[in-house]
Amino acid sequence: MRASDPARLTTSFGGASPRASELLDDPLLAVVGNTPLVPLRRLVARHGGAFELWGKLEATNPSGSVKDRAALAIVRAAIEAGDLGAGRTLVDASSGNTAVAYAMLGARLGFSVTLFVPRNASAERLARLSALGTSVVLTDPGAGTDGAQEEARALAASAPERYFFADQYNNPQNPLAHYRTTGPEIWRQSRRRLTHLVCGVGTGGTITGTARFLKEQEASIQVVGVEPDEPMHALEGLKHLPTARRPSTYDEALVDRTERVATEEAVALRAALARDEGLVVGLSSAAALVASLRVGGRSEGAYVVTVLPDSGGSPGQEPTA
Ligand SMILES: Cc1ncc(COP(=O)(O)O)c(C=O)c1O
Repeated sequence: MRASDPARLTTSFGGASPRASELLDDPLLAVVGNTPLVPLRRLVARHGGAFELWGKLEATNPSGSVKDRAALAIVRAAIEAGDLGAGRTLVDASSGNTAVAYAMLGARLGFSVTLFVPRNASAERLARLSALGTSVVLTDPGAGTDGAQEEARALAASAPERYFFADQYNNPQNPLAHYRTTGPEIWRQSRRRLTHLVCGVGTGGTITGTARFLKEQEASIQVVGVEPDEPMHALEGLKHLPTARRPSTYDEALVDRTERVATEEAVALRAALARDEGLVVGLSSAAALVASLRVGGRSEGAYVVTVLPDSGGSPGQEPTA
């Protein structure tokens, strides 16, 4: 049997000690990352700006979002450390995309996954989790992902020999994944021309790892974080940090300014983007684009790169906060 045969992955993972190198042999997991950086010229022209805007299209990852990067790094490190194997169940909290990424990895590699998801996660996401064989515990939407995180932590602590708590809000592998992949990809794809990075903040893993790498290459690069303008919002994946617990995966020292975006602004921009550029993105991507247009509008000649985390939802079928 060849090393890249998926059956071998599952079989060997069912044993006592899977090897992390086997993950890299899987053609599905080998295509995590290396996403396209696409120019958004019509959007900028409509806005009347004198700057370049490029979007990193993370929906092309195997499970459909940027979260494949962090989930794969977390799972790989856990396998290397011997924390995930021999029948252990991965446990974590997620508002949706990380959950789907873990679910894909669990089904692919043969480990069980239990996820704590706020009840207001989209029906499409929940259906996908169920299709991937994941066990889902729905939590109080009022307590948000912070509440879901507490419940996940409590379950893992109740039987540490049975559970691996992946803890995406505190696991250093989350920002590290972006330091090792997203940052270098953007630096290479922009041909070292970028002047601004604009990025939504959920766990803060994407902005922290990517910004750290880019600022090490060129200290003058400006980093802009994007947050919802109020606690009740429909920008799935983003956190309103003034009223939420600060994840340790978010290093604010790397962020030069924060732009706050209203759900309605993101909804309008998502519709315009689909018409102008042929791209349907999720609302957190649209919020990042609203902020990017503000940033570019203030900085003539700028080369702005923003991360578009997923293609969630559809224009015209808007979620409510
Ligand atoms: C749709 C979406 N946008 C943005 C983010 C934020 O990314 P990060 O957690 O790396 O800050 C997430 C995270 O789950 C997400 O699902």
